[in-house]
Amino acid sequence: MQVDLPLPLLGGLSPAQFMKRYWHKKPLLIRQAIPGMQPLLERNELMDLAARDDVQSRLVIQQGDAAKQPWRLRHGPFTRRSLPPFKQAGWTLLVQSVDLLDTRVQDLREQFRFVPDARLDDVMISYASDGGGVGPHFDSYDVFLLQAQGQRRWRIGRQKDLRLQEGMPLKILADFTPEQEFVLEAGDMLYLPPRYAHDGVAQGECMTYSIGFRAPDQVELAQALLQGMAEQLADAMPPKRYRDPEQLAAECPAHIPANLQAFAQEALFRALRDPDLLSRTLGEHLSEPASAVWFQPQESVCGLEHGICLDRGTRMLYDAKYVFINGESFEASGRDAHLVRQLADRHFLDARECARLSPGAAQLLGQWLECGWLQVLQ
Ligand code: SIN
Ligand code: CO
Repeated sequence: MQVDLPLPLLGGLSPAQFMKRYWHKKPLLIRQAIPGMQPLLERNELMDLAARDDVQSRLVIQQGDAAKQPWRLRHGPFTRRSLPPFKQAGWTLLVQSVDLLDTRVQDLREQFRFVPDARLDDVMISYASDGGGVGPHFDSYDVFLLQAQGQRRWRIGRQKDLRLQEGMPLKILADFTPEQEFVLEAGDMLYLPPRYAHDGVAQGECMTYSIGFRAPDQVELAQALLQGMAEQLADAMPPKRYRDPEQLAAECPAHIPANLQAFAQEALFRALRDPDLLSRTLGEHLSEPASAVWFQPQESVCGLEHGICLDRGTRMLYDAKYVFINGESFEASGRDAHLVRQLADRHFLDARECARLSPGAAQLLGQWLECGWLQVLQ
């Protein structure tokens, strides 16, 4: 990835400059990040996705009578007839992970790979009727809000008071104090760091794409890693059973022996001290595909002779020792490691590069192709 070239997508900043000055720090409004932007999906195509039961979608309706509950939230799937008419003001349909469902949106996602893949979450698309929005709120993650069609008025503020209104079906800030306001046109983009308060209201019909990032919570990560390491421990550590030839006769038989406590502690420290086990488990965890992804096994694949690319549901990462793909780890070295890392970074290997793989690596990639993790390069 070229990180020093100025990009229109970042308003003429290079990825290196953007990351240094703005990422995770402060908002950036980019006019015409994608000049002449046309929506990648028509409104009806988005509605079709929202009708699928394997796609996560939500409907937010603002109700005129604020004395009652002003917000209504429903979860999909939605038949077209279960959605409000387009002429009705104040509703929004949000469809999650469209990058996993549509090649055009997947290609858009690729433009944001100056952020490490391990941080990328998904591309959500929202359709809003006039006046629609999800109310003033904050997100816990970095997000690029790309206006794909129509206009949306964003108000944003870096407020510290993040208390939420009680009794709402959505996260709505109790006391939103906007500091800046912009109207985004098709092709404009707003970057927001985590916890920045924002409220986007459609001016006429509009569609917004949210390129969102994930940041693991440390406790959740520890839980996942401990569980993953526990599963691998039997292979990683030679068996060692507790021994107590020095144990004295117990005057207080219910008291847990201090040696047994120390033995338990040592068992955990041994597992945590093994840098290989920890980094392998982390890579496997981070490369787990999204829960909505199903790979289509290929019955008669023609092999690697045409070149290969990642299936759009595949997550592939690597570290100094391992390559991780869809929750599994493989050790690679030499030329194979170089080529397979190239596949992870670029998302494809052409026919010539595939021909340079060792027979063992070619066989492994052939298996990934068969289980639908890779596709033949078109
Ligand atoms: C939207 O697209 O309507 C909401 C996006 C957001 O505020 O995070
Ligand atoms: Co938001």
